[in-house]
Formats: sequence, C-alpha cells, structure tokens
Amino acid sequence: MADKLRVGIVGAGGIAQGAHIPNYKKCGERVEIVAVADVAVDRAEACAKAHDIPHFFGSVDEMLSSAELDAVSICTPNKFHSVSTLAALKAGCHVLCEKPPAMTVAEAEEMAATAKAAGKYLTYGFHYRHSQEVETLKRFIRDGELGDIYAATAIALRRRGIPGWGVFTNKELQGGGPLIDIGVHMLDTALYLMGYPEPETVFGATYQKLGTREGVGMMGSWDWKNFSVEDMARGMIRFKNGASLVLESAFAANIGKSDEMQVKLMGDIGGAEVFPLEVYQEKHETLINATPAYMPQRNSYEVEVARFVDACLGGPAPISTPEQGVMLQRIINGLYDSAESGAPVKL
Ligand SMILES: NC(=O)c1ccc[n+]([C@@H]2O[C@H](COP(=O)([O-])OP(=O)(O)OC[C@H]3O[C@@H](n4cnc5c(N)ncnc54)[C@H](O)[C@@H]3O)[C@@H](O)[C@H]2O)c1
Repeated sequence: MADKLRVGIVGAGGIAQGAHIPNYKKCGERVEIVAVADVAVDRAEACAKAHDIPHFFGSVDEMLSSAELDAVSICTPNKFHSVSTLAALKAGCHVLCEKPPAMTVAEAEEMAATAKAAGKYLTYGFHYRHSQEVETLKRFIRDGELGDIYAATAIALRRRGIPGWGVFTNKELQGGGPLIDIGVHMLDTALYLMGYPEPETVFGATYQKLGTREGVGMMGSWDWKNFSVEDMARGMIRFKNGASLVLESAFAANIGKSDEMQVKLMGDIGGAEVFPLEVYQEKHETLINATPAYMPQRNSYEVEVARFVDACLGGPAPISTPEQGVMLQRIINGLYDSAESGAPVKL
C-alpha cells in the first residue's frame, strides 16, 4: 500500500481553495497535490501559484492524461460532478466529489456503478457528518438512547442568504436552489443519523418569491434578474419503515434568525437536536435535557479530507457511500418533481 497519495483538484473555486486544498496540505507528507484543472485555465494557473501546486490544466481530461494521480477532488458546479467523476474513476482514481452527488438520479447511479466497476472509492463532501456533534450523537443512537427514530426534521434556512457569487442561482448549472445546495446537507445528516432508511414517497413544494426581485443581501448582492432557481423548498419524506422527515430549506425567507442549520430527531426513547447537540429523554420520572458540558471542537472539512486520504491509503472506507448518494438524489429529484406536479411522488 502506497504511503503517499497523489491528488488532483478539478475546479479551482471557493470550496477547492477554501477547504480541499488547505486540508490536503494539513495531511503533510501523506499527500502531494500534483495538479489542478479548471475550464478557466487562468484560474487554474492562479490557484496552482497560490498553493504551490506544480501543474495546472484547462480540463479534467487533460489533467488525467498528463498527471500521475491516485485521487481527485471534484469541486465544479453541480452540472459537471458526474462527467468529471466518471472520467477520474475510469482513469483509476479515487474520488471525493462535492455535494450534491449530481443533477439527476441516472447520473448518480452511473457514478455509483462506475466506482464499483473500477474498484475505487467514491465519496461525497457531506462534511457535517464529520462534525463532533454528529459523531457524538451517532454514538448515542448506536447505544439505543433514542430508540426507534420515527420522526425527523431537517432545516437549512437563511433569511437573506442568496449567494452573491458563483453559479448558485443558475438552475442549468446547479439543478436547483436551496434544496439541492444547503437542504441536501441537513437531509444527508438526518438520514445518516437515522441509518439511511429506504424512502417510499415524497411530497414537495418550491417557491420563487424573493430571489427574483432586488433586496437586502446578507451574502452579497445577487443577480436577481437571472435568478432561475427556487428560493424556498419544503417537503416531506415517508420511509418504508414508517418513519417520516420534514424538510425546510431557503436561500431567502421572512424568518427571525439570519440562518438556521438544524436536524431534529424524535425516537420512542429519546430525541435530539444536533446543532448544538442536545438530547431529550424521560428518566426517573423526569424529563431530562442533556447538553455536553464540554465537547472538543473540530473542523469538519479537515476531518472529511483526512478520512478520505486515510481510506485511499488503506484505512477505513469512507462513511458516505455512492449508494447513499443515489438514494439522496432520488429524494431531491423526487421532491422537485413533486413540487412541479403538485402530487406526491412514489420513489
Ligand atoms: N461542502 C460544502 O459545504 C460546499 C460549500 C460550497 C460549495 N460546495 C460545492 O462545491 C462545488 C463548487 O462550488 P464553489 O463554491 O467552489 O464554486 P465556484 O464557482 O467558486 O468554483 C467552481 C469552479 O469550477 C470551475 N469549473 C466549472 N466547470 C468546470 C469543469 N467542467 N471542469 C473544471 N472546472 C470547472 C469554475 O471555473 C470555477 O472556478 C459545488 O458543487 C458546490 O455545491 C460545497
């Protein structure tokens, strides 16, 4: 087993330079970032210079045919997750692909099948799973402290958090708005904690009320004239085991808080909120709210990248799997389909 991982980066934007590259660097001698590729080749060049990466390219294919790589991070807009991931897997690389898995279920399925055929890891950038809160609560759940989790809520709401950069408001490039961008994080976190139950039916509604007009922006000023995604998505998922999950996500909504990222779980023994962690139980004829007096804090992106590197070098397999990526994509796309038709969608 190699003791050094040769890594390539696809897409030299915010998440690559803010999370992937610095956290690969923190792995020290175990990782060498060999190359970066971006369709905007000047961006690839600037990124290579800024982070001391020896090679840069104008496309993923050029990078894969020119550089010797073991693993690739896919950090492009959502539309290019699938095509870049397939190319990297077929070139014999492990892949850490940013969330969401893809734009369509067919793409996510092909990505999973290709990873399996190639015998390579494909994992997704669901960094909240690697947070201390989620990991600690997972231990409570494994010990049966919540019992049977039959109800959950996933919340990813921003008051006026329409991104003023990137392509987050472009449906063609992203596939949607807050549901596929931030709702997907809390949905994945809830499903992970629930043990990824098989979904049965979804019912969704989307709105475009605030994004298409000028207004106050807490994340910069956005291009409201070309805003083509939903600004709010709500939905309910029923699982085959009878459990249900309610989801709310918005880039902009008239709410009191600036933003809220939260997962709530309700089981027949206990319940919990995840951010910050709080566990609810009934004990000794008393209703108890348990909160950590101290919990070590950590950077969940750093843990995500370090664990991907570990897996590629022979350590434990990634906790976010291609099959879960397919299930998540079925739910997301099912919610969008339901919102469009106005009827529940059987998955
Ligand atoms: N995990 C998280 O918390 C998190 C946070 C932000 C973004 N993301 C995800 O990361 C991805 C990128 O987001 P970002 O904020 O870095 O966007 P960005 O716009 O800052 O950067 C994207 C880069 O990809 C390049 N690009 C576009 N098409 C390409 C292609 N076909 N091949 C190579 N490069 C290409 C663009 O030129 C740009 O430099 C998105 O999928 C987003 O959902 C995840």
